[in-house]
Amino acid sequence: MPHELLPGHPHIAYKNGDLYVENQRVADLASQHSTPLFVYSKASMLDALAAYQRGFAGRKARIHYAMKANSSLGVLQVFAQAGCGFDIVSGGELERVIAAGGDPALVIFSGVGKTRAEMKQALQAGVGCFNVESEAELEVLSEMAISVGKTANVSLRVNPNVDPQTHPYISTGLKGSKFGVAHDRTVQTYQRAAALPGLKVIGIDCHIGSQIVLESPYLDAVDRMLDLVESIEAVGIPIHHLDFGGGLGINYNGETPPAADDLWHKLLAKLDARGFGQRQLMIEPGRSLVGNAGICVTEVLYLKPGEQKNFCIIDAAMNDLPRPAMYQAYHAIINIAIQATNTPARGINDTKNAIVYDVVGPVCESGDWIGRDRTLNVKQGDLLAVLSAGAYCMSMASNYNTRGRAAEILVDGDKPHVIRQRETTADQIRAEFLINV
Ligand code: LLP
Repeated sequence: MPHELLPGHPHIAYKNGDLYVENQRVADLASQHSTPLFVYSKASMLDALAAYQRGFAGRKARIHYAMKANSSLGVLQVFAQAGCGFDIVSGGELERVIAAGGDPALVIFSGVGKTRAEMKQALQAGVGCFNVESEAELEVLSEMAISVGKTANVSLRVNPNVDPQTHPYISTGLKGSKFGVAHDRTVQTYQRAAALPGLKVIGIDCHIGSQIVLESPYLDAVDRMLDLVESIEAVGIPIHHLDFGGGLGINYNGETPPAADDLWHKLLAKLDARGFGQRQLMIEPGRSLVGNAGICVTEVLYLKPGEQKNFCIIDAAMNDLPRPAMYQAYHAIINIAIQATNTPARGINDTKNAIVYDVVGPVCESGDWIGRDRTLNVKQGDLLAVLSAGAYCMSMASNYNTRGRAAEILVDGDKPHVIRQRETTADQIRAEFLINV
């Protein structure tokens, strides 16, 4: 019987003491493709998507995958083929959507700092909607739309001033945040948008933060957003769609976020009670679709006993897995092989011989840690898996220390697809030049 490691993600599991992603033995993938290596389960992504689809069954709703969570083409292809639209935040992301076979008409363009060039590119590609975040942006977008002979569909991102109770760097709906139009200026801003010749107001949007594990911030934000829709419609501006953003958290370390279908049943009950249940609904989930669908496989390079700490030095680093350094985030770390007699637990394998380590990468910074105070039974050359690595890892990866970005494998049942080759140094320096002397 496979031992499921991540609740709700039966596709990443131990079978007979070896870690598998779907039907692929992780050790085989690592020996073939080397490490560090990201391995994703397509079935886990589709399961996560299915929870949202169940939640919205019978409604006019569209799921726009927030591709900043993982923008690798093979991942985008999975969501495009499953009928999703995309939430993008740059011209580069738009090009990725198109390269992956996505439909620009199902794209919503978010972000506080769209450039004129990006607006033009998006207008010409025919993106479905711009989520506009300021009055200044409205003026520029209208101008750009007129200059290319188009009308831009717009939705204003409103700031509901709700505390999502998550890490401050990923809270976005509070008064002090750079995001969204201030709550008390919303109606005026809509009136300005409606008056501009290059724009067509079609919706309203809000996104209060990320890795939200409670229901209440969503319920509060929905109420505040519906209050705003009533005020906007009262001045004669119809709102066709309601976009609730993304933000639903995942289980990294025992968190128990609401399941997407349960959450949406509750939110829809609220929408129904207030007479909005039949509107066109949109959401922009990122992390909750891909986060627990991926692992990062890494080799133990050295064990280094220290005076105060023991270090387990691995070949993955903050350039591959930036979340611990940036947000003090927790990712479970497990051995990819366990003795069949042991019951696997998150971060702990054979407790009898286990030692407490700081798991760190080779980058020359003390901030380059992947896990602190982890109890592991490891030896040099062992392979470990860093869990919950499907979201905001590869998409935030860098070349710091001239480290090439890792390879990525998307497993679909029995088939491992290479969706990204390991980056070479030649790839990294391709656009660089020596000066002529
Ligand atoms: N929509 C908008 C406008 C967003 O800004 C975001 C995420 C999303 C949707 C998707 O949110 P999600 O469902 O993934 O929570 N790098 C951080 C997370 C930053 C999130 C930024 N915005 C991390 O690693 O935790």
